Amino acid sequence: MDIGRIGSLGSIQAPALRAPLAPKPEAGPCDGLGGSVSTALPGRPVFQTSPEVEVEVEVATPKELPRISDDQRLLQPGAVVWELQPGWGHSKARSESGKDYPARGNPPQTWQQADPDYQPTFYEAPVLATQPAWADPADMKEALSRRQLTSYEPRQLKGAQGEPLNPRGPTGIAGRGLLGKFGANFAADPIVTRTHPETGKLEMIAIVREDLNQVAIPGGMVDPGEKISGTLARELCEETLGKEEHGGTTAQEKELQTMFERATPVYRGYVDDPRNTDNSWMETSAFHLHLNDEEAARLNLQKGSDAAAVSWKEITAESLGQMYGSHGAFVKQAVLLWQKESGLVVGQDGTVGKPA
Ligand code: BGC
Repeated sequence: MDIGRIGSLGSIQAPALRAPLAPKPEAGPCDGLGGSVSTALPGRPVFQTSPEVEVEVEVATPKELPRISDDQRLLQPGAVVWELQPGWGHSKARSESGKDYPARGNPPQTWQQADPDYQPTFYEAPVLATQPAWADPADMKEALSRRQLTSYEPRQLKGAQGEPLNPRGPTGIAGRGLLGKFGANFAADPIVTRTHPETGKLEMIAIVREDLNQVAIPGGMVDPGEKISGTLARELCEETLGKEEHGGTTAQEKELQTMFERATPVYRGYVDDPRNTDNSWMETSAFHLHLNDEEAARLNLQKGSDAAAVSWKEITAESLGQMYGSHGAFVKQAVLLWQKESGLVVGQDGTVGKPA
């Protein structure tokens, strides 16, 4: 298994905090952050005051991802240019709310702009109080003494009490929300496409999420020690092929896992997810697999318990704009890379053709 050390993740001190007993942190070597933010809230766990944390990523990464600039994301052969889809940034995590979340108010744009009056609402979903196996212990000090924080993001921010701070900025909510881990929570996203044999349009396997009823990639959380290609195959089986609780690895899951080992890496990093908070956020690895007619026909789509529905869905400029979190942006990038690789062109309505 290839254990990737992602980027050079020197830690960065967070902006000075207002918490009365918290020592004022020195500015980190490359943070450039000013201002202050209040994270001392009633009912919050007591955060550890820790020295800088060396951050190492312990999730498996089958291949290095290509580095793609924002400009390249918009370029494609054939002169069909899609508008930039929402999702690369940090807007949904600032304005949309996860299921049962409190309102986010109007959080400052950046940590630099967070002044002493910034009072995020503390929220942790009741399920976290039951100490589920997938979550950290509620006591942050204990949680961070048991494991190192890991992240794909190049910037690691910490509050004065050692609490991880969202690398993209404030969200209006402190605590873990519905996410189990302090800091990054890791998912993997399988983008599986085909060209419909009759309509000639590009389609993807999409689910409708149960929580917010939005169309999404059938991804899921990476289990401890699991290879990303394993998560991709497992989630696809569980969420879209009705293969839940099969009590072992099925032949189809093994076949999919092998296929995902040759899948195209599309994106790795922060997800603009409505469940993100100031102290917990989603990061993902998205991979793309384009199936031929025969491979696609062998998949008998059936929804799993996490999804309200599953189907092949046309990939159009419009459908990408309506997807959950950053998913539209990931799928768009998968399509742009696939166009380059295949020499084909995908129109805004999903039609696949040869360049003019
Ligand atoms: C989903 C993934 C998604 C991640 C971040 C997980 O719950 O299963 O598909 O990328 O959240 O939004």
